[in-house]
Amino acid sequence: MINRQIRLKSRPQGKPSAEDFDIVDAPMPTIQDGDVLRRSIFLSLDPYMRGRMSDSPSYAAPVPVGGVMCGHTVSEVVESRNAAFSPGDIVAGYDGWQQFAASNGRDLRKLDPAAAPIQSAIGVLGMPGLTAFVGLVDIGQPKAGETVVVSAASGAVGSVVGQLAKVRGCRAVGVAGSEAKCRYVVDELGFDRCVNYKSGDLKSALRDACPNGIDVYFENVGGAVLAAVMKQINRGARIPLCGLIAQYNAAELPPGPNLLPLLTGRAMIKGFIISDHIDRFPAFLQEVAPLVRAGRIKYREDIVEGLDSAPSAFIGLLEGRNFGKLMIRVASAPTSGNRG
Ligand SMILES: NC(=O)c1ccc[n+]([C@@H]2O[C@H](COP(=O)([O-])OP(=O)(O)OC[C@H]3O[C@@H](n4cnc5c(N)ncnc54)[C@H](OP(=O)(O)O)[C@@H]3O)[C@@H](O)[C@H]2O)c1
Repeated sequence: MINRQIRLKSRPQGKPSAEDFDIVDAPMPTIQDGDVLRRSIFLSLDPYMRGRMSDSPSYAAPVPVGGVMCGHTVSEVVESRNAAFSPGDIVAGYDGWQQFAASNGRDLRKLDPAAAPIQSAIGVLGMPGLTAFVGLVDIGQPKAGETVVVSAASGAVGSVVGQLAKVRGCRAVGVAGSEAKCRYVVDELGFDRCVNYKSGDLKSALRDACPNGIDVYFENVGGAVLAAVMKQINRGARIPLCGLIAQYNAAELPPGPNLLPLLTGRAMIKGFIISDHIDRFPAFLQEVAPLVRAGRIKYREDIVEGLDSAPSAFIGLLEGRNFGKLMIRVASAPTSGNRG
């Protein structure tokens, strides 16, 4: 047996390309007493991975050149020398872009396949969902009747932000990159409005969608969308600064937005990194898991088949080609664990 891996071959300048990745057949990992060997079923692909491909200063260490690309996974335990795990257990971990991984199990969280589709642990009930919850609830502090705007609204984080805003009695307005995404955001997810930032005049479309201004802007993209939103923020607005995907591939930074509205509006912008807020995971699950089960929070997955597809799928994520939470099906799930 071999362990197929995708390793970082070179650090991209600007957009990553397939040549920045190496697909390698490595030997299977071996396990010692206390260890757990698992086989990946789903691999999460997320925008932050672009930062890990680069060695410019960041909050986290880069993937070394020649190292396996990092990433959250849902896996099946195939061999265990650890009393806490048995073969067949389904676990969430951080095994990266490879078929098999081994560790002492302290990095694993057991999943209950009967409670939710197993891949939701890397999506709506995992890191992206938690990010939406912490950014909106803790930083955005939305109040009923306020207007919440979120960019990348059809995506893993944005879709949960808008639906949680609706649960809290807010007006939810999305910004997304196609008519199909906007239709989904309004018709399926129940946002009040969605603006396609690729068609027409973004500023006047936003003004029309937000007649009472913007009280919370959940920022996922930056660039032109942030500049347009700035014009309409209300006094005392809150801006959870979650991501700036529009500039992740930029070799040179775009000119900065006009921050004067923050000053005159006594508004707050606060960056956050979700790994600092893992203590909020139980509160997140307590609120959001029942909403997902009841169908009040809907989600969409964009599942791409096969580990070898990961580089092209990831490159597409940074261009908006995904529609919903992007993940790779590395292998099929065992029938008892496959509820997705
Ligand atoms: N702070 C944290 O700890 C944390 C944690 C998780 C995620 N994030 C951030 O949250 C944001 C959303 O992540 P996600 O996982 O939910 O991804 P996602 O929204 O499922 O997918 C990324 C989306 O971003 C949009 N996009 C891609 N390239 C763009 C560009 N050049 N300009 C404008 N929009 C672009 C596309 O949507 P459109 O087609 O609609 O443009 C694309 O579908 C990202 O910025 C990510 O870095 C931050």
